[in-house]
Amino acid sequence: MKKITINTLRAWKQEGRKFASITAYDASFAQLFEAQNMPVLLVGDSLGMVLQGKSDTLSVSLDEIAYHTRSVRTGSQNCLLIADMPFMTYATPEDSCINATKLIKAGANMVKLEGAGWLSDTITMLTQRAVPVCVHLGLTPQAVNIFGGFKVQGRTEEQAENIFQDARKLEEAGAQIILLECVPKALAARITDAVRVPVIGIGAGNATDGQILVMHDLLGISANYIPLFSKNYLAKTGDIHQAVSRYIEEVTMGEFPGSEQTFN
Ligand code: KIV
Repeated sequence: MKKITINTLRAWKQEGRKFASITAYDASFAQLFEAQNMPVLLVGDSLGMVLQGKSDTLSVSLDEIAYHTRSVRTGSQNCLLIADMPFMTYATPEDSCINATKLIKAGANMVKLEGAGWLSDTITMLTQRAVPVCVHLGLTPQAVNIFGGFKVQGRTEEQAENIFQDARKLEEAGAQIILLECVPKALAARITDAVRVPVIGIGAGNATDGQILVMHDLLGISANYIPLFSKNYLAKTGDIHQAVSRYIEEVTMGEFPGSEQTFN
């Protein structure tokens, strides 16, 4: 696979070519994913749940994300590698610069921040200092205690409008990828049409430019529970390599997610 950069994803958006992405936490899986031509890998703070067995992502540390980012980068040189900034490591623009540096030095090409419009100054500060940002909107798991659980966001007109305006504002601030989690398909489609940057969805319907899944969900081996919007590709194929390539194929063809993995 040729080296994937943000320019590759932007060109694919313009061509209407859909792409898959997946979480990765170690070198062996990173190598397997790259060998299957997976363009984008995320070292997600979901590792708190799927590797450590916790009920949320809040206890994950920056050092843990940096450790897993180094491992994934060792296994994959050509995937675009995004690393999650853990809870409270980007509470101020200054903190975000100091902490993002650690992840970029560990091998990430981009950092991911969860939030809303308040992230505008932080995103501008990071991008001006050469740290590319993916912004995560909708169900932001670090806000689980504000939401009162892992719940679909953007179902009321007011919520949907807020998420839409945040997406535009944060693109304007410099975000290079927007990730939408657990929002109705129509909202994800509206945002995808309105912004120039690639939009990646999880539980956001099939109208986004890209899709992402937590690798343990795709393989049906998550410690706690498998979300409704996921699909167990290992059960469908019986082989990890085929499971990954089937996922990539279904995303590319616009077949995943189907209506059963979509919120309206
Ligand atoms: O932490 C993570 O794995 C994520 C994905 C759910 C997108 O943020």
